[in-house]
Amino acid sequence: MIQTDFLVIGSGIAGLTYALKMAERFPDKKITVVTKAAADETNTKYAQGGIAGVTDFENDSFEKHINDTLIAGDGLCNEKVVEIVVKEGVERIRELINWGANFDKDADGDYALGMEGGHSEYRILHHKDVTGKEMERALIEKVQQYPNIEFHKHWFVIELITQHHLGYLITKSTPDIQCYGVYALNTTNNRIEKILAGTTLLATGGNGQVYRSTTNPSIATGDGVGMVYRAKGRVENMEFIQFHPTALYEPGIGGQAFLITEAVRGDGGILRNKYGAAFMERYDERKDLAPRDIVARAIDSEMKITGTEHVFLDCRHFDKEKFIHHFPNIYEKCLSIGIDITQHQIPVAPAAHYSCGGIKTDEWGQTSIRNLYAAGECASTGLHGANRLASNSLLEAMVFGHRAFEASSRQPGSTIDPDRIPDWSTAGTTDPKEMILITQSLKELQLLMSDYVGIVRTNVRLERAMRRLDLLWEETEKLYVSTTLSPQLGELRNMITVAYLIVKGAQFRKESRGLHYNTDYPEKSPILQNITL
Ligand code: FAD
Ligand code: SIN
Repeated sequence: MIQTDFLVIGSGIAGLTYALKMAERFPDKKITVVTKAAADETNTKYAQGGIAGVTDFENDSFEKHINDTLIAGDGLCNEKVVEIVVKEGVERIRELINWGANFDKDADGDYALGMEGGHSEYRILHHKDVTGKEMERALIEKVQQYPNIEFHKHWFVIELITQHHLGYLITKSTPDIQCYGVYALNTTNNRIEKILAGTTLLATGGNGQVYRSTTNPSIATGDGVGMVYRAKGRVENMEFIQFHPTALYEPGIGGQAFLITEAVRGDGGILRNKYGAAFMERYDERKDLAPRDIVARAIDSEMKITGTEHVFLDCRHFDKEKFIHHFPNIYEKCLSIGIDITQHQIPVAPAAHYSCGGIKTDEWGQTSIRNLYAAGECASTGLHGANRLASNSLLEAMVFGHRAFEASSRQPGSTIDPDRIPDWSTAGTTDPKEMILITQSLKELQLLMSDYVGIVRTNVRLERAMRRLDLLWEETEKLYVSTTLSPQLGELRNMITVAYLIVKGAQFRKESRGLHYNTDYPEKSPILQNITL
């Protein structure tokens, strides 16, 4: 058993921001960071385009950034939260720079600001096309300076510990559900440990792996959302899954798709269909730089009209040296598969990229469960509404990592007699005989979510998806109670829960808004509604 003051689940930008601040303010308190993979294996590490923030006050303003965020969010943003993130974000970016993150500068020594879809000004700070890698590097190096931060890598967190584990019946309407910590599987020795904590922060990231094609790495399985939902906490707006318009199309390659950052379109990249036609002007006057929901739907439509599995991103008109200077990683990747961007167009297709909904929090990152906070992509703070503005998520993760730190450092935290919390029981379970029972279910899940619950939805598709999910759930629960727990089984369970929440949210939403498009309800409802499950 481990006892700690502050438990952080996840080592991406949200979790590490929180951990660093706590360690700095309370040198005599213990901060425990748990992550299920290598320390830096996070969505954060793969961020390309950069972090949005108002730093050029001559041309840009808070009002413009707020307005762009609200337009992208299509009526469902919480305006107060948008203002908080945009205004406080500037200070958080400054801190990140002080912690050692480097952003590109121009010849005059000013930050070289990038442009992305939905932004009315150049405001994206970036480090080449590997911004996330640079941020994660700086954060991990900084964390190593604090002896009061204890890091557990390759520990898979399974469940939140609540009154349920003390033998009480907990339902969605139970008042004052409390979190006392978590059960976690240490995959280096296969033991399941109790970690008891005064305060727990979930910073478990996104859920792109629920879909067959995603820009997200394999860690993005929605574990935090799954755990909170099972613990009877509140989750909202899960139907708003953002598909990035331009993932590199590589036939026959499964798993994580390589991203071609939106900043390439910001610098002048043009989307073309298989006949060479620049089609975006037929869909939106902002053309290739319209918000992501519009561009992804336009590409989906062009692919269906022309019967192809991808469209093209044309960069042949770029100055080669400038392209290589800003996008060295993309240049190299394309070259490695025989695409010289000065001569060939890049085949691209939309891929699941970001979860706008998640664990419902207030404006301080507090969830519906006491002593449990959430920050980063796993949280639904109200910033993104029905569609996230490009490069706002790293900003949100830092602002809410900070806010959760401020709020939880003022709270007393839970105290529980450790002897009252039972050890994890493995009674009745045996080692799994066949991993195929897990891997095949995962494939089915990803396929049905991509085909039935993708960019365009219908009532019939959603009904079909739900029926198939019921079956997958039943079979997976049988496995869960009868076999020794593995991360793969735990993740499958969480992904089925997340898929269920996406479909349920989509079925409740009788309209098309932002990222949710249902051809049976093509219009927006006059009633603005967040769907909480
Ligand atoms: P993550 O960085 O994903 O970290 C999650 C952590 O939780 C990991 O350490 C993981 O191991 C851990 N974890 C999860 N489940 C468990 C468990 N059960 N037990 C233990 N540990 C667990 N956003 C922008 O603003 N700008 C961009 O340019 C940008 N580009 C992107 C490019 C790509 C390819 C991708 C995939 C995303 C991009 N995003 C971008 C989105 C952004 O990167 C993420 O939303 C953000 O990094 C999420 O940070 P996080 O701290 O919430 O989670
Ligand atoms: C990108 O670089 O296109 C991704 C930016 C984001 O997801 O915010």
